[in-house]
Amino acid sequence: MTTLISGGQVVSPSGAFPADVLVDGETIAAVGAPGTLSGDETIDATGKYVLPGGIDAHTHMEMPFGGTHSVDTFSTGTTAAAWGGTTTIIDFAVQAKGTSLLSTLDKWHAKADGNCAIDYGFHMIVSDVNDQSLKEMEACIDGGVGSFKMFMAYPGVFYSTDGEILLAMQKAREIGATIMMHAENGIAIDQLAAQAFAAGNVDPVQHGLTRPPELEGEATSRAIQLAKVTGSPLYIVHLSASQALAAVAEARNEGQNVFAETCPQYLYLSIEDLAKPDFEGAKYVASPPLREKSHQADLWRGLRTNDLSVVSTDHCPFCFKDQKEMGRGDFRAIPNGMPGVEHRMDLLHQGVVAGQLTLGRWVETCSATPARMFGLYPKKGVIAAGSDADIVIYDPSARQTLSAETHHMNVDYSAYEGFEITGRVHTVLSRGRVVVSPSGFSGSTSHGKFLSRSLNQYLN
Ligand code: URP
Ligand code: ZN
Ligand code: ZN
Ligand code: ZN
Repeated sequence: MTTLISGGQVVSPSGAFPADVLVDGETIAAVGAPGTLSGDETIDATGKYVLPGGIDAHTHMEMPFGGTHSVDTFSTGTTAAAWGGTTTIIDFAVQAKGTSLLSTLDKWHAKADGNCAIDYGFHMIVSDVNDQSLKEMEACIDGGVGSFKMFMAYPGVFYSTDGEILLAMQKAREIGATIMMHAENGIAIDQLAAQAFAAGNVDPVQHGLTRPPELEGEATSRAIQLAKVTGSPLYIVHLSASQALAAVAEARNEGQNVFAETCPQYLYLSIEDLAKPDFEGAKYVASPPLREKSHQADLWRGLRTNDLSVVSTDHCPFCFKDQKEMGRGDFRAIPNGMPGVEHRMDLLHQGVVAGQLTLGRWVETCSATPARMFGLYPKKGVIAAGSDADIVIYDPSARQTLSAETHHMNVDYSAYEGFEITGRVHTVLSRGRVVVSPSGFSGSTSHGKFLSRSLNQYLN
């Protein structure tokens, strides 16, 4: 059974070109000049873009965090992702202190396997650096997990000391793994947060005020130096501040294997959202925090120059009513995280509409580069013969308004409520199966398969 996607503009990092795409079973069989291919069935993509499915390399489904769990399960979260044109997520298995990396991996397989609408992989959060953890990093690679997230933030939870980071980086260098870093100086931040609370400043905006951008810049620089000393590849996650971007750009200019991602919330939202009255700011509490708007132009520029090479969401949804509420009266107890997995492709398409990004760069930052960065290319991240038929047909002239009333994420608010978007997902195929079309969701939460990933494909 073959399907022809005809009449569309296929988008790759080098731009858009008119082509027909033939899908045979789970894979792309051919990409040809318009009118040169035929299939058993045809999907008309006239006037639309044909994109490689989005790859969101940073999500947290069912994550135990802040005394609760993020509310999207693998099932609801991957379904919402599919609605928004994302056909692969890479989520984080979370090592609890006192447990092993391999048992953690088993635990995350038990949560996700058989429960995903799209394909998925894992990174590993290392929160307990010891001889066994270091040894097991190598076994994780055999299990398809070659990227390890560490935290310079959240003392007492996921935080690692500089010495622990150094040890993990030495191991990463040895085995070819990539260290992903949450770069904020958590020790200094906790002091500022305690001082603010003691002074009676308890509202959500304090979350932003006590996590200044300098402390993201400082931690980013420190992580880069540790990576330089050890020779480890480094990927800075959820970069939000101009200061951190400058440190990444400098390291990259010197030829160091340093990479970074940003997220739509840092491109579109700001500390003004955190300052919304009546505790509404709690909806926007995530770490690093939303910044002053002046950082946004730098982030867009970073996306153009490739100092920011990936856009992910850091999707980590907590309900406003019963979860964010835990921090009313003490901003430090608001669970950290925001929803967004459904809207990344649309929000970044707005960057194209606004002239911030080219079409090619949209696809590169949201699909092609994450595929290469995390060892999925060319199975994922490209429309080419032999690749998985993960395909998004995107209507660039449709209009939509984002809202919790209409989104598919399992959370009671939208961080982008009322945002007017030009462009909309029309049809989504996951390994050849139509999972979203104008008649709705036709996928299944047993369809998604675990992706055993190879190592970072950008390493020198
Ligand atoms: O606030 C955030 N970002 N929550 C998710 C966990 C993390 O640090 O990525
Ligand atoms: Zn983080
Ligand atoms: Zn995260
Ligand atoms: Zn709830």
